[in-house]
Amino acid sequence: MTSPLKCLTCDDDRYQKAYKLVLERSSHQHHTRDFIHNTLPDTLAGVGNGKPQLNVIGVGSGEGNIDLEMLSQLCQKHPGVLVDNEVLEPSSQRLYNYKATVAQRPDLKHITFTWNNTTASEFEQQWRQKNITKKADFIHMVQMLYYVEDPGATISFFQSLLDKNGKLLIILVSGESGSGTLRKNFPDQLCNKEVSVTGAEIKSLLDARGVPYQSYKLQSHVDLTECFTEGDQTGELLLDFITQVLDFSGTASPELRRGVLGLMRDPKYSVERGGRVLFNNENEAIILDAVTVCTD
Ligand SMILES: C[S@@+](CC[C@H](N)C(=O)[O-])C[C@H]1O[C@@H](n2cnc3c(N)ncnc32)[C@H](O)[C@@H]1O
Repeated sequence: MTSPLKCLTCDDDRYQKAYKLVLERSSHQHHTRDFIHNTLPDTLAGVGNGKPQLNVIGVGSGEGNIDLEMLSQLCQKHPGVLVDNEVLEPSSQRLYNYKATVAQRPDLKHITFTWNNTTASEFEQQWRQKNITKKADFIHMVQMLYYVEDPGATISFFQSLLDKNGKLLIILVSGESGSGTLRKNFPDQLCNKEVSVTGAEIKSLLDARGVPYQSYKLQSHVDLTECFTEGDQTGELLLDFITQVLDFSGTASPELRRGVLGLMRDPKYSVERGGRVLFNNENEAIILDAVTVCTD
């Protein structure tokens, strides 16, 4: 059954506002940064095999804040190396904001940016049509796999672009998190089924394919207190992002609203501290190697 509700992605301005609010209200960026600064550098140190130029692809880069942190770690591990960075982002506004940030950062002079105002599948189509043979050393997909039609196919395509020693990093909500459970419990009612993908699904898909990976849990919670006050605009915006439904409060049935709010306050998925409701928004980072070609 297809949901009669509209996806939040239909309204790019509201999507952006809601995403920014969730970032302000959650420890997500803090824990992602912690991972980028303390765990990712060892992975980045091994890419490239001494090449003078490293090729990077950012898939669903948004405004580039997380991308730039990762690029900075990559450059620290490979001083003096040139970096070619392909950015893929379907929202023109977010791509514009990313470009504006880069324009104000003279320290990024040794990085060449190629801006692709495309979805992952449009990028794949163009890559295949042009028969491009360039290989990438580092590809990342941070909080974006929810929006592609076929996450497994998207992973396969980008993994196939990795050079020897290359790495593909995926970050998304974990299957055990409140956000992951919510998306899994109401996939048909909330929006597209695709949006319900979590780290658990990606790992089972990789296990079934026999693809090796490393995975790391990134703790995070989001303060959803205002969601429980009817008519509160902050709460409504937060609810839109958590459910990925445009105007969830105004368009969801009372049963669905009750079900979603009930899960958000279930002690399995949230804690109350100092009168605030902190919802478990744990993430998972999954790192894949290049596909090994058997020469026997
Ligand atoms: C939650 S944001 C994450 C942005 C950024 N990676 C970050 O971590 O801050 C998801 C991003 O994926 C982009 N996106 C949505 N559908 C996409 C698709 N089919 N292919 C590539 N990116 C997509 C959105 O425009 C948005 O900027």
